[in-house]
Amino acid sequence: RHTRVGIIGGGPAGLLLARLLYRSGVDCVVLEGRDRAYAEQRQRAGMLEHATVDVLRRCGAGARMEREGLVHDGIELRFDGRSQRLDFPALTGGRRVMIYAQTEIVKDLISLQLSELSDGAPLLFDAEVTGIDPGPANITGASTTSGSGTTTGSGHATVRYTHEGRERALSCDFVAGCDGSHGVSRSALPAEVTRTYERDYPYSWLGVLADAPPSSDELIYAHSPRGFALHSMRSPSVSRLYLQVPNGTDPGSWPDERIWDELDARFALTHDPGWRLRRGPITSKAVLPMRSSVVEPMRHGRLFLAGDAAHIVPPTGAKGLNLAVADVAVLADAFARFYSSGDTGGLDGYSATCLRRVWRAEHFSYFMTTTLHTSPAQSAFDTRLQLAQLDRIATSPTAAAELAENYAGLPLALGA
Ligand code: FAD
Ligand code: DHB
Repeated sequence: RHTRVGIIGGGPAGLLLARLLYRSGVDCVVLEGRDRAYAEQRQRAGMLEHATVDVLRRCGAGARMEREGLVHDGIELRFDGRSQRLDFPALTGGRRVMIYAQTEIVKDLISLQLSELSDGAPLLFDAEVTGIDPGPANITGASTTSGSGTTTGSGHATVRYTHEGRERALSCDFVAGCDGSHGVSRSALPAEVTRTYERDYPYSWLGVLADAPPSSDELIYAHSPRGFALHSMRSPSVSRLYLQVPNGTDPGSWPDERIWDELDARFALTHDPGWRLRRGPITSKAVLPMRSSVVEPMRHGRLFLAGDAAHIVPPTGAKGLNLAVADVAVLADAFARFYSSGDTGGLDGYSATCLRRVWRAEHFSYFMTTTLHTSPAQSAFDTRLQLAQLDRIATSPTAAAELAENYAGLPLALGA
């Protein structure tokens, strides 16, 4: 079988790319290594930037998000026992964010993909990619004029995968590596033309889901002498909470009671000492390590990386999913240009266009992480610096606007 774009990975990046390509009439196949239930249940992000919401709406995948998503106009910062709200529309010229879980986006995209495509579902589950042959780097052989049949030139890439116990191969004009941070695409880029930039952090997050109504209408990011805490939510009846813990922490060492008590201690307010979280049964508990990483360039020849396959951010500030969406919006636009007019400008500019946004988000995620967490080696001087920065954000509209613009997200720059 031949397709124009072979997509490795059915996470948000791969599924959304397939949706955008389908809307532009560009034939593709998605190969997802896990089963559908697993892909739909994996607990991850929840905060969608303004631009992410727009992309989902524009490609017809936003109907349930419109009904069930929670629009947020700001966040609360807590530090030094104080509380400061940041009003996003006022600080950014009208931008808002949306709380709608990654699990729900994935479910919506899977059901659209499986219901609308008529030529047999080009979304295969339990299809683990084992190897990529990226083919010749020059792309003149790709099929700019024919439909989903064969390539007009000799150049093509091959993706090898196992499905239903058999080895199979998919021939494609291009490969989109959307297989996350542990996938195979990243290592298919030749080492001599790529460079990876990385940073580790000396703490992790304990993330929990609780059947408890959110304790506030908005997200709360807390700096405290006991470490960072975050109050988020999934729906009017489900809270999502995160707690800074040492690397290597066993979630089993955190019974529910200890989690709630520690969260209350970290969110404590001097002017309202009675403030407490609403408690409820904890339904999931996991420890998430933190890392920053970027691969440059994000493309070699016919292979394009998108989402976590190309870059990882620490979660503070919720940029991971939003960056994945921004990448595939640029990539889908570049493929659409190529297949409609043979113009390779979008494809050639893909890596540079994405990396500008990626490095902005890398900086913001690093800034939010290091400003709000307490490192094991932290001195009293370091803590004073953090508090001075948080005080600046709380009192200067310019400093607050800088945070709000990055958080609510920059406009998408499509094209080269
Ligand atoms: P993924 O969602 O990782 O999707 C990759 C897909 O590729 C997966 O379905 C995988 O099964 C598949 N795959 C992998 N290898 C192969 C293969 N060889 N063959 C076929 N398929 C393969 N971001 C936030 O903003 N806030 C958060 O709170 C947050 N929490 C997170 C918690 C965890 C545990 C993790 C890992 C990430 C979290 N993130 C969070 C980041 C965010 O979820 C990611 O940025 C986002 O999922 C990226 O989407 P993606 O499609 O690029 O990659
Ligand atoms: C969520 C995760 C984040 O990392 C963040 O900064 C905000 C919200 C969440 O999972 O809801």
